[in-house]
Amino acid sequence: MVPPDSGVVDVGTDHATVPIQLARINPNRKIIGVEYNLRPYHQAVQKIVNAGLELVVEIRKGYGLDCVEPGEVEVAIIAGLGSATTAEILRKGKRVVQGLSRLVLGPMDYAYKLRQYLLLNNYSIQRELLVHEFRWYEIIQAHPGDLESALVRPYPSLSSLHAGMQRLFAREFDYHRYLPLQTMLELVPLLGEDPEKASGFLEDKKNNLNRILQNIPEVESTRIRRRELRSKLETLWELKEKLCGLKMS
Ligand SMILES: C[S@@+](CC[C@H](N)C(=O)[O-])C[C@H]1O[C@@H](n2cnc3c(N)ncnc32)[C@H](O)[C@@H]1O
Repeated sequence: MVPPDSGVVDVGTDHATVPIQLARINPNRKIIGVEYNLRPYHQAVQKIVNAGLELVVEIRKGYGLDCVEPGEVEVAIIAGLGSATTAEILRKGKRVVQGLSRLVLGPMDYAYKLRQYLLLNNYSIQRELLVHEFRWYEIIQAHPGDLESALVRPYPSLSSLHAGMQRLFAREFDYHRYLPLQTMLELVPLLGEDPEKASGFLEDKKNNLNRILQNIPEVESTRIRRRELRSKLETLWELKEKLCGLKMS
């Protein structure tokens, strides 16, 4: 997702694996790693020295994008942090973000919340990638602004986002029943380019939901919650069937 000629900042660089890989792809561009905590900061500096990349990768100590100047790089990677922290970094780094052409985001939790933040704050989601390594990682490629070619375009309000997402699910999956916004935002990776992975991702979501349902006691106080979860499970089944149909056609 990172164009080989683009200058990049990797926020929350920790072990500096990402800057080192980026330097291997193209060492003749700006590569910055930012780390907030002291121990990982020293670790990142040491890794860069060990890799002999001191002249190629610069490790800076700072919070999010606060040690990056607007226009210094074109791409920001923020991976391995929670959705709330990622959104906060974008909010606080607005001046820098506005000058970026691309964001590559890998939230570790509640990816739907980050998608909601992006789409309500004038970012387009251009691409979604699923990576399976012991668990599913959801990688979001986003762009500041409203791009016509985007997978999901931004909306000014929750209600218009909800309506827009329903139209998208109707168009892409021929799915016309009401869906909660959260469910659709969780399932945006299904719009990615790999139906095989999308199907595996859905299967895991179904299994998780089944596990949760089995552990909820069948008492009056959990009736509404159980009904919501069963309805979500039904949606996942239907979408899985539709995806399989799309794969066969
Ligand atoms: C789990 S590691 C992720 C490492 C790497 N980005 C990856 O995806 O493998 C998260 C790192 O982000 C750093 N971090 C957390 N909040 C940060 C912030 N606001 N600014 C910079 N670094 C931050 C943590 O200290 C930690 O080293």
